[in-house]
Amino acid sequence: MQKQAIDLLIHGASELATPLGTGPRAGSAMDEIHVLEKGAVALDQGRILACGLESELRELYAPTECLDAEGGTLLPGFVDAHTHPVFAGTREGEFEQRLAGARYAEIAAAGGGILSTVKGVRNASREELLALLLDRLDRFLMLGTTTVEAKSGYGLTTADEIKSLEVLRDAAASHPIDIVPTFLGAHAIPPEHAGEKERYVQIVLQEMLPLVAEAKLAEYCDVFAEAHTFDLEDTRRISRRAQELGLGVRLHVDQLTPLGGAQLAAELGAVSADHLEWVDGQGMEAMAEAGVAPVLCPLVPLFLRESKEAPGRALIDAGLAPALSTDFNPGSCYMQSLPEVASWGALRYGFKAAEGLTAITLNAAASLGRGARLGTIEVGKQGDICVTDLPSHRHLAYELGRSPVRAVVKGGRVVFRRTDRVQ
Ligand code: NIG
Ligand code: FE
Repeated sequence: MQKQAIDLLIHGASELATPLGTGPRAGSAMDEIHVLEKGAVALDQGRILACGLESELRELYAPTECLDAEGGTLLPGFVDAHTHPVFAGTREGEFEQRLAGARYAEIAAAGGGILSTVKGVRNASREELLALLLDRLDRFLMLGTTTVEAKSGYGLTTADEIKSLEVLRDAAASHPIDIVPTFLGAHAIPPEHAGEKERYVQIVLQEMLPLVAEAKLAEYCDVFAEAHTFDLEDTRRISRRAQELGLGVRLHVDQLTPLGGAQLAAELGAVSADHLEWVDGQGMEAMAEAGVAPVLCPLVPLFLRESKEAPGRALIDAGLAPALSTDFNPGSCYMQSLPEVASWGALRYGFKAAEGLTAITLNAAASLGRGARLGTIEVGKQGDICVTDLPSHRHLAYELGRSPVRAVVKGGRVVFRRTDRVQ
């Protein structure tokens, strides 16, 4: 029998570990993953053609290229469902202020925080922002992340928000990572509208949102719903307008104070409710009923030195399908590694190995409306695979502080191979 020519065979793995399916895996199903010892994968034309033992696949297929996993574990490419990667300038000074006891909200109220990054973005040219973003996308990819949700939100004028979203669009056109763009004009009240929040809300509603929707620059709209930024009524109005214009809604809720944001996310039919440090039982119930995806950021309270953490375990026990994300941004989490997030999801929430893996792959992909295409290693899905050096998926959360990524396959193509070796 003539063997079928294919683009790529990934072989030599100790195991292949993946959740299965196209929808989010909720509650106890998060812990059920498929583990194939010595699993290999055949890829062609960007997609996964077959999974099985190497010997079986070699009988059927003649690969043009082979990638040796050298005894590591194959995992689905990681999906980061919450990031803020379009920024210029860093905020290590605020990090140190917090080490000395300052709180995030105090720093923000004194004109630091988000607003200091807004200055950086307004002063940066498109080319500068794009170069910074491309470097960050490289780092995501080298850490095994093959898809990122990415928010604007450090421009806060119509022109600077559009600039940020266009930079995301241009980066997506030239970088292998898949980018899911989110408009976050309602991230903070900009300094020129200090004390006149309603004027800024009107700009978001009447100017920014229609332009963003018309130019199809974002799939989602997000609002930072907090006591010191946008209250629940502002968040409701902005989200409804976004929905009328065809955008989905993801929300920053119940992060620093208990505002009932999870209930609002449920009322609005938001796709995701993110952070959730202060969510209560009623909020969880409302989210479960409405099918809102919790997107948790376990590093953020640690980075901010806030003691309140999201009830990760309770969310799973309530039958929800949490995703874990980095929240990568210069203020509240300057960190891009989803393996690290899986470790902290384990240590802080008690997520088991399989739950953590599901949370950074399929559940994250499903929360971005991409569960049918991404998030698992299954026949027909896009060929996004993270080749690690881990002996099993159980090492993903267990090993901290280093990247386990040996190679990354994106859309069926090898886009990264680790070459560093001690000389
Ligand atoms: O998700 N909460 C709002 N936004 C970010 C922080 C952004 C910043 O501090 O620059 C967050 O934590
Ligand atoms: Fe965030």
